Amino acid sequence: MQPELIIIHQQVAPYVAHIQLNRPKDLNALNLQLMGELRDALKQLEADNQVRAIVLSGDERAFAAGADIKQMMGNSAIDMYNIDQFSTWDTIKKIKKPIIAAVSGFALGGGCELAMLCDMIVASETARFGQPEIKLGVMPGAGGTQRLTRAVGKALAMEMVLTGRFITAQEALHAGLINRIVPVELFLQEAIKLAAEVAAMSPLALKMAKEAVLKAFDSSLEEGLVFERKNFYLLFASDDQKEGMKAFVEKRQPDFKGK
Ligand code: HXC
Repeated sequence: MQPELIIIHQQVAPYVAHIQLNRPKDLNALNLQLMGELRDALKQLEADNQVRAIVLSGDERAFAAGADIKQMMGNSAIDMYNIDQFSTWDTIKKIKKPIIAAVSGFALGGGCELAMLCDMIVASETARFGQPEIKLGVMPGAGGTQRLTRAVGKALAMEMVLTGRFITAQEALHAGLINRIVPVELFLQEAIKLAAEVAAMSPLALKMAKEAVLKAFDSSLEEGLVFERKNFYLLFASDDQKEGMKAFVEKRQPDFKGK
């Protein structure tokens, strides 16, 4: 079935696909249908050998203004439990290919959490990040208290989560939440450029390196180092390692095959 609330753009650069959240009138609020379509699209791109990096964006006004408040407002706790929306988020979390968020305008609540689930964030000058759930009488539920705290530290995370204050792109950059700020008219282009730079690398090395960096968030240093070493050794079983090192010695660009 064709997705209705997202648009998938294939090959926006060599080996790069772009998924655009497409509910502009609702500031790309993340309802269950949109999240389901996003999960399915990411799984499809994960299985596609012609895709090595993925860009995820909204539009200029909003990356996403959060979970759909209108859809969940009447739910009971048991409804929320049965709907089990976080199984979708768990699937997205397991995508091995690098995902770059291109954020312009609002990235709030679940929108901020979705951007943080990505591996890098390119933001426009107009980007605003926030966890305003507290103003709705709830709190972040898709990683906002955990990923935000790890990214920006306790002081700013507490302030954002307890007051709901939005931070600017400048503050987000200063706090280490995002990778770079670009003019609004270039935010998508720059994210695609970064994705293309990533996609020129060995897809196997990319996946294993991403996995190892993420390991740093839920392991001790010693466990993380052991994990890193195993992936490092494993890559010596790949054709891409032979090709990458041979190309260096021969002073040419490598031709990685993902094998
Ligand atoms: C449903 C939303 C929405 C949301 C905006 N809209 N955010 N609908 N859920 N999260 C809708 C509005 O109702 C409105 O629809 C249209 O989008 C435009 O929004 P406005 O409010 O008119 O725009 P503006 O005045 O520019 O204000 C922008 C805004 C504000 C500051 C972003 O919309 C806002 O505060 N939105 C809610 C942000 C939020 O609280 N997010 C956290 C949600 S909870 P109509 O039909 O009236 O034109 C969450 C929990 C995550 O994310 C849990 C894990 C998944």
